[in-house]
Amino acid sequence: MKEPIGVIDSGVGGLTVAYELIRQLPKENIVYLGDTLRCPYGPRSQQEVQQFTWEMVHFLLNKNIKMLIIACNTATAFTLEQIQKAVSIPVLGVIQPGARAAINVTKNNHVAIIATEGTITSNAYPHVLKNINPELQVYSLACPLLVPMVEQGILNGQEAEYIVIKSLAELRKNNLIDTLILGCTHYPIIQHVIKKVMDERVSIISSGEETAREASAILDYSRMRYTGSKLPTHQFFTTGDLSQFKNVYSKIFNSEINEVQPALMRQIVLN
Ligand code: DGL
Repeated sequence: MKEPIGVIDSGVGGLTVAYELIRQLPKENIVYLGDTLRCPYGPRSQQEVQQFTWEMVHFLLNKNIKMLIIACNTATAFTLEQIQKAVSIPVLGVIQPGARAAINVTKNNHVAIIATEGTITSNAYPHVLKNINPELQVYSLACPLLVPMVEQGILNGQEAEYIVIKSLAELRKNNLIDTLILGCTHYPIIQHVIKKVMDERVSIISSGEETAREASAILDYSRMRYTGSKLPTHQFFTTGDLSQFKNVYSKIFNSEINEVQPALMRQIVLN
């Protein structure tokens, strides 16, 4: 029995993490669920994000996953601890790995985060960053236009550049920042535009690589790595439009996806 690693996001953003998992753990099976129908999560209340995230978790637990990656910063900010406490498999979020990667890279301790409104108001990044290094100066900026832009497949060209310039205006004025965390898993998909718009001395951090490294270490530590010889098979589920998901997938990875399946989730109401 080859149990998969489960990956969840509000939409296509978590594919940037799934991509790194597939690259760093090429023998493992991945099962991905994007709640595209209800994306974006960023402007939603904490309670709503928790409810939707739990629905995704239940869907993937039914697929017999051996590890869960919450590849969504907003869901990580609002649910990581409660999900870790409630389920018996290892559960990883994307905020700690992103914070660690930034601390590794900054030279002057001035670190900025761009993320959804939910992630910024949760204060999760400053909390994690300052817990590791209290000397850090942390600047946070919500960029509510970027997730809808990526979900619509606007990844290049003048329109994309215009939206990114408008969204990052405040950070572009700050000459101290030397490290910028992409605190939303959708943002690495438009990293080339963000790079172009920011000063070139600013290092850009996305948490996908670091999260996959951590997943790999945990699999070893808990002796859960797949050691057989079966070839990997990956499954992709979305609650939304199948062809839109396929379309954005092929733009991100420059390759076609074989099959995207519709996900029907059971509604859960949390007390
Ligand atoms: N990829 C999600 C994140 O990392 C996007 C959130 C949203 O749906 O607004 O926060």
